[in-house]
Amino acid sequence: MSMTTSGAGATPEIAISRDAAALAEEAARRFVAAAEAAIGARGRFTVALSGGSTPKALFRLLAAAPYKEQIDWSKLHLFWGDERTVPPGDEQSNYRMTRENLLSQVPIPEGQIHRIVAENPDHEAAADAYATTLRQIFALAAGEFPRFDLIHLGLGTEGHTASLFPGSPALAERERLVAAPWVEKLDSFRITLTPPTINAAREVQFLAAGAEKADIVRAILRDAKDPTELPAQIVAPEGGRLTWLLDEAAAAKLGE
Ligand code: 6PG
Repeated sequence: MSMTTSGAGATPEIAISRDAAALAEEAARRFVAAAEAAIGARGRFTVALSGGSTPKALFRLLAAAPYKEQIDWSKLHLFWGDERTVPPGDEQSNYRMTRENLLSQVPIPEGQIHRIVAENPDHEAAADAYATTLRQIFALAAGEFPRFDLIHLGLGTEGHTASLFPGSPALAERERLVAAPWVEKLDSFRITLTPPTINAAREVQFLAAGAEKADIVRAILRDAKDPTELPAQIVAPEGGRLTWLLDEAAAAKLGE
């Protein structure tokens, strides 16, 4: 059961579920619906997944009945919104988390799983290689951005999303599809989709759960626009839908 508010235009839809488990169910239902719509309209479903811990519950649902049977996995092209600069077997790898919780259970053709090769010590080359993959799979002309059917995003407690962190130069990127910003807070480089790539999507869904996200969810949705300090505010798909999938704990301060 979820309470949904949605406004016209750029106003995001906000769907609130009782708890993290109900949120994962809501996200799974929407994933199935998005896949069905994309495959019906264009013969494939292009989706960029987020990392971190929130998506794990969703991935486990999608990897099992009833959701697993509701998706034509042979028609998916899977991407990531960002990746840590570690090998794919590293416990920090978003790819590894996805493989353990989803990819090992569903029949997506290996050639349609587009991993970010983030272990390349030449981080700019890693970003450029992923951009080349995007141009190939989306058959992009110069200057075009990929129009993902769905991009999942998480939210850090300080407002980062994907690997767009407060104060990051990647927030000002308007030309490149993928960037390799240094993240001071993490003392490491990350590979991330850029704001124009995210905002070219048909739909972007934020998934956030837990009381620890309540303050930042309120700030992102209610405070004055300041994407440099609150990077998740930069997400505003020009010709697409923006949806916030929250549990009650993460939404608890929206009324303040
Ligand atoms: C990553 C993610 C990142 C994540 C947020 C929320 O690589 O870490 O892409 O943007 O979504 O940090 O993480 P949690 O879901 O673990 O709170």
